[in-house]
Amino acid sequence: MSASKKLLILPGDGIGPEVMRQVRRVIDWLGRRRGITFEVKEGLVGGAAIDAHGVPLTDATLNEAKAADAVLLGAVGGPRWEKIEFERRPEAGLLRLRKDLELFANLRPALVLEALVDASPLKADTVRGLDLLIVRELTGGIYFGEPRGIKDLGNGIRQGINTQVYTTTEIQRVAKVAFELARKRNSRVCSVDKANVMESGLLWREEVTRLHQEEFVDVELSHMYADNCAMQLIRNPRQFDVIVTDNLFGDILSDEAAMLTGSLGMLPSASLGAIDADGRRPALYEPVHGSAPDIAGRDIANPIAGLFSLAMCLRHSFELPDEATLIEKAVSQVLKGGMRTTDIMAPGMARCSTTVMGDSITRALDKLNA
Ligand code: IPM
Ligand code: MG
Repeated sequence: MSASKKLLILPGDGIGPEVMRQVRRVIDWLGRRRGITFEVKEGLVGGAAIDAHGVPLTDATLNEAKAADAVLLGAVGGPRWEKIEFERRPEAGLLRLRKDLELFANLRPALVLEALVDASPLKADTVRGLDLLIVRELTGGIYFGEPRGIKDLGNGIRQGINTQVYTTTEIQRVAKVAFELARKRNSRVCSVDKANVMESGLLWREEVTRLHQEEFVDVELSHMYADNCAMQLIRNPRQFDVIVTDNLFGDILSDEAAMLTGSLGMLPSASLGAIDADGRRPALYEPVHGSAPDIAGRDIANPIAGLFSLAMCLRHSFELPDEATLIEKAVSQVLKGGMRTTDIMAPGMARCSTTVMGDSITRALDKLNA
């Protein structure tokens, strides 16, 4: 890693900018109070980039992302850009970042904090202590497979086409990440597919099994069909440690897992590429929540997923686990103290704005650091 730590912040759309403002405050705090400084640049992505440049991600911003040690992204999308053709929509900017930086492993933890155990729509007894990690394949599968498109078949009939494709290499590299992470956790991996219906799922299962036998026999491996997994996540989510799955199933199951924790506003994610010859690993960190246009600009969004994403960034890109833990502890304390943004509001708690949540967290950081 070069001497200075290069961070690119892409606030994006909707609540992205207001959430990233709080993230920025904590980055500044790290410089002031812990002597950890970053070379921070900001750029546009999504609808914001469309408005300024006509495209959801410019080549210049893509190059900034490639030059950075890590990218922190807010959120993309909104009703204003929904009528635009697919390739020029805000989401296409995010997909291009993922694809061009080859961020094939998407880590989506779902953690139930004790202070928020009642925020879950499931019974507290079912989710208390939940700590699972979804590793979603992010640069392949039906999101990128060819052929794709909408075909005119004549006679007023049209056909929509998308293709699920996976190579053995794509399957193995993401499964490897899952097994390695499981070793640092509870050593259990559940691989999720539809091997009962799809050839790509059958291949997925075969390759994960092979890799397991060759390199990871110390990790416990199980397999599950995606539909069953969706059900098991609700029935008994604590049975899981690490779930590894393809792009589309991972998209769906990670939203479901997120809701187990009570609020999308709490969950971070990391998207990682392969480590190159210089030991650098392309990485992008973003909250799982979207741009939430309905509440954008009102200073009521929950900044915690953004802050937890920063913590993941410190841990995975900069080897700063102590600072990551500090942020997580500060958040935990503030929640214990009763502060709640609207999305996690509960009876008897104190409702606060995005900014006030940020204030409280920086104050908690000061105290922890004293
Ligand atoms: C996600 C989102 C994206 C996806 C959208 C915004 C393209 O839902 O990160 O889960 O489908 O991957
Ligand atoms: Mg999604």
